[in-house]
Amino acid sequence: MNKNKFALITGGSRGIGFGIATTLAKKGYNLGLISKNSERLHLAAKELANTFPDIDVECYSADVSVTIQVSQAIDFFMKNQKDIDVLINNAGVLHTGAIDSFDLETYQSLVMTNQIGSFNVIKLVASRMKEQKKGYIFNIASMSGLRAWANYGAYASTKFALVGLGQSLRKEMLPYGVKVTSICPGAVATDMTADLDMEEKDKIQPEDIGRLISCCLDMSHSVSIDYIPVECSSLA
Ligand SMILES: NC(=O)c1ccc[n+]([C@@H]2O[C@H](COP(=O)([O-])OP(=O)(O)OC[C@H]3O[C@@H](n4cnc5c(N)ncnc54)[C@H](OP(=O)(O)O)[C@@H]3O)[C@@H](O)[C@H]2O)c1
Repeated sequence: MNKNKFALITGGSRGIGFGIATTLAKKGYNLGLISKNSERLHLAAKELANTFPDIDVECYSADVSVTIQVSQAIDFFMKNQKDIDVLINNAGVLHTGAIDSFDLETYQSLVMTNQIGSFNVIKLVASRMKEQKKGYIFNIASMSGLRAWANYGAYASTKFALVGLGQSLRKEMLPYGVKVTSICPGAVATDMTADLDMEEKDKIQPEDIGRLISCCLDMSHSVSIDYIPVECSSLA
């Protein structure tokens, strides 16, 4: 086991999570990746381990909406890591549509991953960070967590909830030396926005979110950032 710091990333197998994983790997963090699809997750972990041989990369396939699976994943990573220095609470799904035709089952699946999943991960990691008296929790919320567009209401309601949870948690954790920040991006070039009528190059790049997080991590202890809106210049 090396003495690198450790970052836990949910939804680390692709998209924004993978972009952040790459940035943190460059910074020398050991990585623990969680996502649902085991094959995709192992491929991502292998790619990072091959590119960054000086860090440890481990992965655990889990559904963040299932509390016991999140708990087992964290126990698995903590066999080889001392502390959780950074949490990237990123796993999420998007479904769009007008509210009057939105079916309850789809809404429940949004809430289960984006809200309950976030709660599961944050709750377990926050209690560890309180004991450690250090750590940084990033919630990957959305611009839809700050203002809502037509047909994004169901998704927006889960992201407004996450920003609210993060705001409260930031204050709760301050006395323990733990920072909490919500990142609220517009359109990012990932599978999630593949259907958006925009060129990929005009979207925010996943690595941009990684660079932003790197910047927050480099701030002095006296800086506490509640949330960061990241507008996409083509949509602003
Ligand atoms: N793309 C955007 O424009 C944008 C903008 C603002 C905010 N966001 C937010 O950023 C986060 C990442 O989005 P993305 O664009 O990178 O999406 P993505 O490319 O679709 O990737 C989503 C990631 O989350 C994982 N995941 C989904 N449901 C999960 C569950 N129940 N348990 C564990 N892992 C799960 C996926 O794992 P599998 O590979 O196993 O499916 C995948 O790793 C989401 O919270 C999203 O709401 C995205």
